[in-house]
Amino acid sequence: MNISYKNLYDLSNRTAIVTGGAGILGRHFCSGLAEAGANVVVADVNKEIVQKVADDLNNEYGTRHLGIFCDVSSPESVQDMILQVKRKFGKIDILHNNAASKSNNIDKFFAPFEEYSLAQWREILAVNLDGMFLVAQAVGKQMIVQGSGGSIIQTASIYGLMSPDHRIYENSFYLGRQINTPAVYCVSKAAVIGLTKYLATYWADKQIRVNTLTPGGTESGQNDEFNRRYSDRVPMRRMANASEMVGALLYLASDASSYVTGQNIIIDGGLSAW
Ligand SMILES: NC(=O)c1ccc[n+]([C@@H]2O[C@H](COP(=O)([O-])OP(=O)(O)OC[C@H]3O[C@@H](n4cnc5c(N)ncnc54)[C@H](O)[C@@H]3O)[C@@H](O)[C@H]2O)c1
Repeated sequence: MNISYKNLYDLSNRTAIVTGGAGILGRHFCSGLAEAGANVVVADVNKEIVQKVADDLNNEYGTRHLGIFCDVSSPESVQDMILQVKRKFGKIDILHNNAASKSNNIDKFFAPFEEYSLAQWREILAVNLDGMFLVAQAVGKQMIVQGSGGSIIQTASIYGLMSPDHRIYENSFYLGRQINTPAVYCVSKAAVIGLTKYLATYWADKQIRVNTLTPGGTESGQNDEFNRRYSDRVPMRRMANASEMVGALLYLASDASSYVTGQNIIIDGGLSAW
C-alpha cells in the first residue's frame, strides 16, 4: 500500500466554511484549516472583524480565504453566504458548524433559571441550534449535488454532555460580571450531538461524514478565581488553550478520519472521565 500517512491531513484544494470563524476558537480553527491547505471561508455575524480575520489568513498562509457576513439564524443570510462561496470557489468540501451566541443582553443570558425569559431562551436556540440546522441543511444539499462527499464538524460543549458543577461560579467573573452556564446553552449543545448522529447516518451513503467536536473550558479572559475553581475539577488541572482544539478539527476534516462518522471527540483534559 502506498499511503502517505502525513498527507492524510493535507487539505489542499478543499474549501472549508467555518461559522463563528471570527470568534476566540473560530480564529484558531480557521488558521489550522488554512495551514493545512484549505481555502477558508470565515462566516460570522461580526461584520467589523470578519474580513480582517480573512485578510490575516491571506497574509499568513498565501491561499485564498474569504470573509463573509452571515447570520446563521437567518435562512436568507445562510443562502446568500452559500451563493458567495459557490461563486468564489465552485464547491464546498468541509463545514465547521461552530457559531454560538452569548446573546446581546448579558444580564438576560446569565439570568437564573427561575427567571429565564422565553424570548432569551429562543434567541439562543435560534443561533446555537436553528443555525446549525440551517447551515448543515444548505451545505449538505450542495455536497449532494457535487457528488463527492464531504466532512461536517459541529461544535458542541462539555456542558452538552454533563451539567456544570454550579459551585465553580461562586466569585467567578467574566466580561465584568458574575457568570454561570445557563440551561439553554447546555440544551443547545446536547442537541448538537443528536443532530450530528442523525445526519451521520442519514448522509452516510452520500459519503458525507458528520462528527462533533466537544471543547472543555478554554481560557478566554475568565478571572483567576474561575480558572482555579474550574481547573480543580479537571484531571489535567488546567483549562484548555484554544490552540489545543485544532488537532481534532484537522483530523475530522481530513482523510485521516475517512471511516469516522457520527462520533464525538471530547477535548476536556479528562473532565468527563471522572
Ligand atoms: N470557549 C470555550 O470555553 C468553549 C467551551 C465549549 C464549547 N465552546 C463552543 O465553541 C464554539 C466557539 O466558541 P468561542 O469560545 O470561540 O466563542 P466566541 O463567542 O468567541 O465565538 C462565537 C462566534 O460566533 C459568532 N456568532 C454569534 N452569533 C452568530 C450568528 N447568529 N451567526 C453567525 N455567527 C454568529 C460570534 O460573532 C463569534 O465570532 C461555540 O460553539 C462554543 O459554544 C466554547
